Amino acid sequence: MRPKVIAGNWKMHHGPSATRKFFSEFSPRFDGAEPTILIFPPAISLLAAADSRGSRPEIGLGIQNIHWEPEGAFTGEHSANMVVAAGARFALVGHSERRHVFGETDAQVELKVAAAIGEGLTPLVCVGETLDERRGGRVEEVIVRQLDAALLGVAEDAKNPILVAYEPVWAIGTGETATTDDVAEAHGILRRRLREIRGDGFAQEVAILYGGSVKPDNAAELLAVTDVDGVLVGGASLDPESFARIAESG
Ligand code: 13P
Repeated sequence: MRPKVIAGNWKMHHGPSATRKFFSEFSPRFDGAEPTILIFPPAISLLAAADSRGSRPEIGLGIQNIHWEPEGAFTGEHSANMVVAAGARFALVGHSERRHVFGETDAQVELKVAAAIGEGLTPLVCVGETLDERRGGRVEEVIVRQLDAALLGVAEDAKNPILVAYEPVWAIGTGETATTDDVAEAHGILRRRLREIRGDGFAQEVAILYGGSVKPDNAAELLAVTDVDGVLVGGASLDPESFARIAESG
């Protein structure tokens, strides 16, 4: 059994002091190793998160985006080794907002996955189709292409080096949740593809999360779907009470 992963992507919310306040309210409610809890604060709040997580080191921290180079003239970017030094152990790669707002490509996703793994970060690779792609019957083509590109960044001898999140773009921040049938189908496609490319052992180890308008009142239903190993929560992860209720569903 893969332990459930409950991840919060704060996007561009919660500076350092809001981050401290969040942890002071959220951390005391979680004292066990399960479910696995991951928080992706803005980069500027990572150190505050690492400090205020305090006695709950089992709450994992991640960065929302990395650059693939270790250092250099890349204004505004952060390298994998820097975010490790700031306390992160995970990195979102290929989030739909990176792809669709900032033009991140599959080739960059591959480079970022390789850079993350090279520095000991676990990449959480996000894939998902737009509404037009879904209407055009292209869900499988799109998510398999995105997954394949990410896997090119994973060395053959890597054991359990990635997490995957299926986040249909049309369900992010819209209040629209994919039906449990849609989620089961997409997660099944991803699991099958992992097996085809890397074999059954690898495929069984990779946690596949669902993201897109996950809330306290739909988390349990989504977490019960076959091949859903966790959730990646945006808006509802900002409030400690609501994120705690989602985590209690895991
Ligand atoms: P929402 O939960 O706000 O829809 O965001 C989902 C998401 O993009 C998480 O990465």
